[in-house]
Amino acid sequence: MKTDDKLLIRALRGETTPVPPVWLMRQAGRYLPEYRALREKAGGFLNLCYNPEHAVEATMQPIRRFGFDASILFSDILVVPHALGRDVWFETGEGPRLNPMAIGDAPPAFDPEPFHAHLKPVYEAVTGLRQSLPAETALIGFSGAPWTLATYMAAGRGKDEQAAARAWMYTDPDSFGALIDRLAEAVGQYLIRQIDAGAEAVQIFDSWAGALAPSAFDRYCVQPTTAIVETVRAAHPDTPILGFPRGVGASYADFLKATGVNGVSLDQGVSPEWAAQALQPHGTVQGNLEPMHMVTGGDALLRDVDRILAALSGGPFVFNLGHGITPQADPANVEALLRRIRG
Ligand code: CP3
Repeated sequence: MKTDDKLLIRALRGETTPVPPVWLMRQAGRYLPEYRALREKAGGFLNLCYNPEHAVEATMQPIRRFGFDASILFSDILVVPHALGRDVWFETGEGPRLNPMAIGDAPPAFDPEPFHAHLKPVYEAVTGLRQSLPAETALIGFSGAPWTLATYMAAGRGKDEQAAARAWMYTDPDSFGALIDRLAEAVGQYLIRQIDAGAEAVQIFDSWAGALAPSAFDRYCVQPTTAIVETVRAAHPDTPILGFPRGVGASYADFLKATGVNGVSLDQGVSPEWAAQALQPHGTVQGNLEPMHMVTGGDALLRDVDRILAALSGGPFVFNLGHGITPQADPANVEALLRRIRG
């Protein structure tokens, strides 16, 4: 099937499809026994990310099991700081660690040659996936957004309300702005290479956008995202771009209009009825089921699915969760979700 005919791509181009495409953030992961077995075999999470065969297999697992309309490349947002020369490792059971930057530090240099050499296994996984995926399944590439990447680079981990990055931005705005702009440059080039390799849409994860004050939102979230969108569009004008400024509430509308993304992924804090009237006229809406329903299931799950479908099915819409599926999720609840959406 041609990319243009895939359900996800049609929805991201603004079409109201009879049944919405569905995929889940973190659809590959620890709630699947086959993922846990693969990670064990690979000997750690980063070994999965940097081995194209393993990354392809991890990406394929939820597609085989559930038949989602889209797959998201198995990787992590922190491969970008890693490729820029920062130390990155994963503490089992805890999460990512980096050696923290200090306020005032110069941003790491962006040297395209070693950067892309480091990320070559990612590009190879993308190309491998286009050969492995079912004909109708769209392939989404992704990156972390500059602000969210900077919060991890400043703190060395995800913690304390992103205090380290917030302190830096007010103490020394020049060096913090330089870091953000450097990351925007690297992220733009990274996404272009993923699309060159075969990604059919891309998503920019700004998971900690909700920690920004309204006065900082434009400079550290909207502006770098806009720059990335311009860079990617110059190389690949037709590839749809999704933004996920998680937790920004009413500012989703400003983000959608100002950045020029094709669609926004909504967290579960936003009402779908509000999204239908404030967002859908300006772009595709993706979301926004409370991820806890994948753990708890039952009637509460079905009621919220029905509410989201009722509110958003009249416009361009992609069904997803409001954030990633958690390790405690029950695969049976994912099946119940798909049955409810697809009938
Ligand atoms: O299936 C998919 O969605 C594709 C793969 C994917 C992962 N991380 C795999 C992963 C994607 C798109 C991400 C994005 C990511 N990574 C984000 C943005 C989205 C979000 O969740 O807000 C962020 C902030 C990260 C950084 C990160 N990676 C954290 C904070 C953690 C620890 C928390 C956790 O869930 O373990 C990770 C680890 C991670 N990334 C795992 C997976 C499957 C778990 C690793 C493991 O123990 O096996």
